[in-house]
Amino acid sequence: MTQTRRQIALNLFIYPGGHHEAAWRHPNSMPERGLDITFYQELARKAEAVKFDAVFFADGPALQENIRYSQQIRLEPITLLTALATVTSRIGLIGTSSASYYDPYNFARLFASLDHISGGRAGWNIVTTSTERAAFNFGFPGQEPHAERYRRATEFVDVVTKLWDSWEDNAPRYDKAAGIYADDSLIHDIEHVGHYYRVKGALPVPRSPQGRPVYVQAGSSPDGRSFAARYAEAIFTAHQTIDSARAFDADIKAQAASLGRNPDHLKILPGISPYIGGTEAEARALQQQFDDLIQVDYSLGQLRHFTGFDFSGIGLDAPFPLHLIEHHQPRGHTSRTELIFDLLRREKLTLRQLIQRMAGARGHNVAVGTPEQVADIIEAWTEAGAADGFNVMPPWFPGGFDRFAESVVPILRKRGLFRDDYTGSTLREHYGLPRPDSQFATERRKSA
Ligand SMILES: Cc1cc2nc3c(=O)[nH]c(=O)nc-3n(C[C@H](O)[C@H](O)[C@H](O)COP(=O)(O)O)c2cc1C
Repeated sequence: MTQTRRQIALNLFIYPGGHHEAAWRHPNSMPERGLDITFYQELARKAEAVKFDAVFFADGPALQENIRYSQQIRLEPITLLTALATVTSRIGLIGTSSASYYDPYNFARLFASLDHISGGRAGWNIVTTSTERAAFNFGFPGQEPHAERYRRATEFVDVVTKLWDSWEDNAPRYDKAAGIYADDSLIHDIEHVGHYYRVKGALPVPRSPQGRPVYVQAGSSPDGRSFAARYAEAIFTAHQTIDSARAFDADIKAQAASLGRNPDHLKILPGISPYIGGTEAEARALQQQFDDLIQVDYSLGQLRHFTGFDFSGIGLDAPFPLHLIEHHQPRGHTSRTELIFDLLRREKLTLRQLIQRMAGARGHNVAVGTPEQVADIIEAWTEAGAADGFNVMPPWFPGGFDRFAESVVPILRKRGLFRDDYTGSTLREHYGLPRPDSQFATERRKSA
């Protein structure tokens, strides 16, 4: 094995049925186990057995459209990750929580607890929630504008960070003889008074093993990118081409560097959805099995969900009327809308072809081929500076992940691209991220 190569990070992105939008209909998928905690525990243990960095669960506080056609149920991620923490010991546990709809104090407490329970393996995917349906569940008359959601998220993260820092590391004393439970000079009310939040602090839970759970971010619009450059330590993103991923990587890291951050402390992790066969033809036939299960009504709803554009009435097999999208303003998913429109323009797809391209993994890169071919794609993206690792998005569960773990991971290891074993025990250690100091400890040292 070449020891000198920079190794990649691998997360298992778990969607209940699988990442293909019709996965739940495939004979090998198990939609009936979507609420069964042992299903997720088995997946997390398998991912840990092959030394993945983390498992990841997406989330949104709303039932999505089109439950008629697709597996949209979600166990609440913090609850779910806590149940995974008790049956695993090394793998990172990343979940989405919305900065638009959580209360920062409740949120900070929940995630600090997860970091304690897991021994330092928690990661928070910070999203602003693009679906309007969520707004109606929280008493908002509609969704806040995109820039406003990111402004709120900025204050939310600042408050949460102060709360996670509110106990300095050595505040708990448990000194039975002296009768001192905690050194209260090291515990700080945060006294936050801002535009969106007023929070006194401190948390009722001491500083967690990682100091702060790992900050993950997943929006790629200009607002999302500057937010990521400021806060994110791992960035999830969807790209169709190496060039687009490389430009994204360079942009985020340059922005982070201009803010005084070390670009090595930002891990860019595009999604990859692998269809693996003994031959390329077998892999293509496997993909076709899933595409044959697509229900066009659902797909059109998904495209509308991502772009805010109504595709109904457009011929499925005629040349796509590109002039219709020329002046369309995206509503929720700015970057995904761009990805979709870019596909239509660049590859001159018909609507049916676009549906198939998006059905595989909602716009993430779909890799179809033999284990070597899939490993080649991963290696090429890595070598090109387009990725520090990947969110692996199996088309279906559990078999789609088994194939990747059994056939692609050993090739990546042989090429020196992926670890043989864990060298640390926290998610920060897996990703090679520093453990941050409490801002209150830093200030105290400065003024001492
Ligand atoms: C891999 C990945 C995972 C995501 N997970 C979530 C999620 O769990 N919940 C959510 O509301 N949005 C999720 N998103 C969407 C983004 O957070 C964001 O809302 C969307 O990309 C629109 O943001 P933008 O306008 O900044 O691009 C995810 C995006 C990616 C690429």
